[in-house]
Amino acid sequence: MRSKLFVPGSRPELFDKALAGDADALSFDLEDSVVEDRKAEARQALRTLLQSPAAQASSKTLIVRVNAIDTPHFAQDVQAVVQPAVALLNLPKAERVQDVLQAVEVLERAERSNAVTHSLQLLLNIETPRALRHAAELGAAHPRVAGLQLGLGDLFEPLGISRREPQAVAQAMYTLRMAAGEAGVYAYDGAFADFRDADGYRAEAALARRLGYIGKSCIHPSQVPLANETFRPDEQDIAHALRVVQAAQAAMSDGTGAFVVDGRMVDRPFVQRAHDVLALARRLNLVP
Ligand code: COA
Ligand code: MG
Repeated sequence: MRSKLFVPGSRPELFDKALAGDADALSFDLEDSVVEDRKAEARQALRTLLQSPAAQASSKTLIVRVNAIDTPHFAQDVQAVVQPAVALLNLPKAERVQDVLQAVEVLERAERSNAVTHSLQLLLNIETPRALRHAAELGAAHPRVAGLQLGLGDLFEPLGISRREPQAVAQAMYTLRMAAGEAGVYAYDGAFADFRDADGYRAEAALARRLGYIGKSCIHPSQVPLANETFRPDEQDIAHALRVVQAAQAAMSDGTGAFVVDGRMVDRPFVQRAHDVLALARRLNLVP
């Protein structure tokens, strides 16, 4: 899921375009991009889409961002959008372990009543100061949590922190990455609102990638190729990873734990990393 395109639930005219595009994942939104008095209409439009043959046949990861757990919309959103075609629920503004557990209860009830036979996973938005401070506990709150997503718009705007302050962006990203690591879930980068600034998007995405994030959200189709390109292992990464794995096999039969590949020392964590790079490359059909 290198790229994940947000699509407002209140703009059904975008649904087919989004399904036909190049994003690895689509995140249909019922929260911030949908005004209060169109929540019900958007929810209904999404239910219809998610039950359609086009959604069921899509090879993309389909996600819905529901409204936060403390809103009057949450339970109805979950009830409507927990459908067989959906892989993940994106939960905004989660701050407490209890929020996650409560969300799981509502989700499980919806799975039973909608005859959904797989277990949907949760992607938690970390987008308040409290959530960032407790991110590892939130990530570990329940096995359904698959990842943590950084929401810098909601985190920074109320605090008056500039998105163009690289230190602030890097610190928040690093903190979330460590929390996700502690919880054993993935870290996912959030949206970048200034969609005409491709260089700005690329710079954030590149930083996220260097910090081990698996992908970045998009709010406009023009950002999708930027994310796909950034989070794809390049030829050099793949070639190096192949040499590491080969050398590790040879070293293992010699009983050697640390050895040299491309002039650099390699031991267990580097071998693991090489396997991860190759696994991703295989998923993207970049290696046989
Ligand atoms: N999904 C699918 N298609 C989209 C899209 C999206 N999120 N955003 C734009 N498009 C389409 C447009 O329909 C247009 O298609 P066309 O060429 O066939 O007419 C094309 O991409 C270019 O769009 P553009 O005119 O540049 O954008 P816009 O002014 O219509 O919309 C936004 C700009 C930001 C309002 C819109 O991209 C959007 O709503 N993005 C998602 C916002 C969101 O979900 N936010 C919450 C998460 S942070
Ligand atoms: Mg928001």
